[in-house]
Amino acid sequence: MGLLDGKKILVTGVLTQGSIAFHVARLAQEQGADVVLTSFGRQYKLTEVMARRLPVEAPVVQLDVTSDEDLAALEGRLREHTDHLDGVVHSIGFAPQSVLGGNFLTGQWDDVATALHVSAYSLKALAVASLPLLGAGGSIVGLTFDAQFAWPVYDWMGVAKAAFESTSRYLARDLGPRGIRCNLVSAGPVRTTAAKSIQGFETIEGRWSERAPLGWDMTDPVPTAQAVAALLSDWFPATTGEIVHVDGGVHAMGQ
Ligand SMILES: NC(=O)c1ccc[n+]([C@@H]2O[C@H](COP(=O)([O-])OP(=O)(O)OC[C@H]3O[C@@H](n4cnc5c(N)ncnc54)[C@H](O)[C@@H]3O)[C@@H](O)[C@H]2O)c1
Repeated sequence: MGLLDGKKILVTGVLTQGSIAFHVARLAQEQGADVVLTSFGRQYKLTEVMARRLPVEAPVVQLDVTSDEDLAALEGRLREHTDHLDGVVHSIGFAPQSVLGGNFLTGQWDDVATALHVSAYSLKALAVASLPLLGAGGSIVGLTFDAQFAWPVYDWMGVAKAAFESTSRYLARDLGPRGIRCNLVSAGPVRTTAAKSIQGFETIEGRWSERAPLGWDMTDPVPTAQAVAALLSDWFPATTGEIVHVDGGVHAMGQ
């Protein structure tokens, strides 16, 4: 018996084999789920290549999470592959370099707005676009980087993550009465494309592995993906609005 036997899961954010979402999709399939991926623009072909590297080739549907047209079309595009969803994974983040990497004070609203749109508002947009297919027992899971703190170089992405975490709590409030849960996994630093594109990301990585009582491997997205799979499963039936830290324990330590 797999943890996700028979479940239909929508996974956004598969870009490379290092993407956290790639490992979520892989584990979900290994645990018995059918998976549909999303991608957009120039990344679409890359996602199709990744889809073929999964244990079972997954269909890919078009979704730029900032496009009203794509969001409106999502239900129809998904219905070509499944008649319902049991889970939705939000594994999306983007901010222009002008609001990252030490540019907090010089960040301009247009670029900050892009970061908030892609990285925070999109959780609500994706949840609402998926709702026609999501029933009671459904689970929405997103990925955050602990927004309680001001990190080096994370800048407006950190602010976007604070908004993202709050958005998750409001979704938990509004979707709970329909039996739909919304939870986040707060991961430690993992060397993915998104992370490596932040100039100075190594200063966030800092002494993470030394500070983590369990240790921490920045090249291993699997513990994070495992937590996402667990939250997609039926084993957290009374948990919503929660943030599960998968960071080796760093969040619980003093300096
Ligand atoms: N890597 C880390 O250290 C780390 C730590 C904590 C949380 N996270 C979060 O994990 C999530 C996944 O990131 P990752 O590290 O696997 O990197 P990644 O670069 O592999 O994935 C980011 C994804 O966001 C997608 N994306 C960007 N703009 C989009 C848009 N407009 N519409 C749809 N998709 C869009 C990209 O296509 C890409 O697949 C992000 O939310 C990130 O903030 C990452």
